[in-house]
Amino acid sequence: MTTNQNDEILDAIFSKALQGRKLFQNHEALRSDFVPHHLPFRNPQLTSIGQILAPILHGSKPSNLLIYGKTGTGKTAATKHIITKLVETIIKKHIDTKFVYCNARMTGTEYRTLAELASAIGLTIPFTGLAITEVLSRIQQLMKQTSLRAVFVIDEIDYLVTAYGDDLLYDLTSSSDKISPGFLSLIGISNDLQFKEQLGARVQSRLSEEELVFPPYSVEELRTILNERAQLSLNPNAYTTAAINLCAALSGSEHGDARRAVDLLRVAAELAEREGSNLLDDRHVRIAVQKIDQDRVSDALRTLPIHAKIVLLASIYSAHTDPARASSGLVYDKYCELCKKTGLESLTTRRVSGLLTELDTLGLITAAVVNYGRYGRTKKINPEITLETASKAFESDDAMRHLFH
Ligand SMILES: Nc1ncnc2c1ncn2[C@@H]1O[C@H](COP(=O)(O)OP(=O)(O)O)[C@@H](O)[C@H]1O
Ligand SMILES: [Mg+2]
Repeated sequence: MTTNQNDEILDAIFSKALQGRKLFQNHEALRSDFVPHHLPFRNPQLTSIGQILAPILHGSKPSNLLIYGKTGTGKTAATKHIITKLVETIIKKHIDTKFVYCNARMTGTEYRTLAELASAIGLTIPFTGLAITEVLSRIQQLMKQTSLRAVFVIDEIDYLVTAYGDDLLYDLTSSSDKISPGFLSLIGISNDLQFKEQLGARVQSRLSEEELVFPPYSVEELRTILNERAQLSLNPNAYTTAAINLCAALSGSEHGDARRAVDLLRVAAELAEREGSNLLDDRHVRIAVQKIDQDRVSDALRTLPIHAKIVLLASIYSAHTDPARASSGLVYDKYCELCKKTGLESLTTRRVSGLLTELDTLGLITAAVVNYGRYGRTKKINPEITLETASKAFESDDAMRHLFH
């Protein structure tokens, strides 16, 4: 290849990239953790959170608050927005209060969640090794000594409770005399509407002194939200109204999920950019939907426990062998056969039946109960994904690799 040819290729790449830049004005604003200054349709929620936290401004302890709503209803964005506003005010007015935000799904453990709180109030604790109660008592001691007032936001708090139970929340919500004259208020945010049922009665009443629900958005509302987001992130004339409307319609069909809407817009815009197109239209959105759904399926597949993976594979093989009669019994036999091949001990039919239900909930199979009158009932299993998709997702799993024939 001559130098000239090289240059031509590079020129083409660069000019494509420059064209692409015409599409984006601010790529960051399309990230799903971006918090816009304006949050339409959330005035009632912002007002309530504001009122609940306002006592901070005259040095009193605000009530604990539990926020719920499905994913993408603006819980995280609204809470972060309020915190930013409050922090601005308390700095201006020289009020001494700490706001600490952490996401329990990211921190992962009780220890690391507490470590976030500790480090935010200026306490260094080792990366691991202390007992939770020890970390807690060091935090409380420091807060007491320095009369520290703090609001601790635990986002996706349901992860913590599912994994560890509610002991930590009990300790955090019942520590006022150990901290006084300082105080600690808690804001818990949950995507899981049933979360409260996992809490013991005492923690339940303490944590949800105040409660706030974020309802899903309507398609119309998503359209407004997306239009504002597109104005922030894309150049004027770089997108069609049809593209925005389609993103809104597709994200409002299950429950009004603004995260899905924003993700869709971002992926569609990136596809358009890669194409070198300077107009994002509904065609890009249609391709983006497929891509997002594929990514979601392969994430779900990759994170399945090993036995669930084998059960899923057994369902796919059974449906191949006998599409008319892929009963749970047939799937179970196939499952045992596959377990033998991997050297794993197989689970009982009861456990496997439970795994089938879980796979059904995840949308990876459909299990329908078929009644044979006096011959009894059986579950008919239909896989919703192909062998190819499964093998691609499972290939990184050593235990699974030699199960594909
Ligand atoms: N009312 C709103 N106005 C503008 N953007 C919003 C609004 N609600 C949600 N969003 C955006 O949608 C995405 C998901 O919101 P988020 O607050 O993370 O939802 P949740 O925490 O309820 O799952 C974020 O990118 C956020 O900026
Ligand atoms: Mg959130």
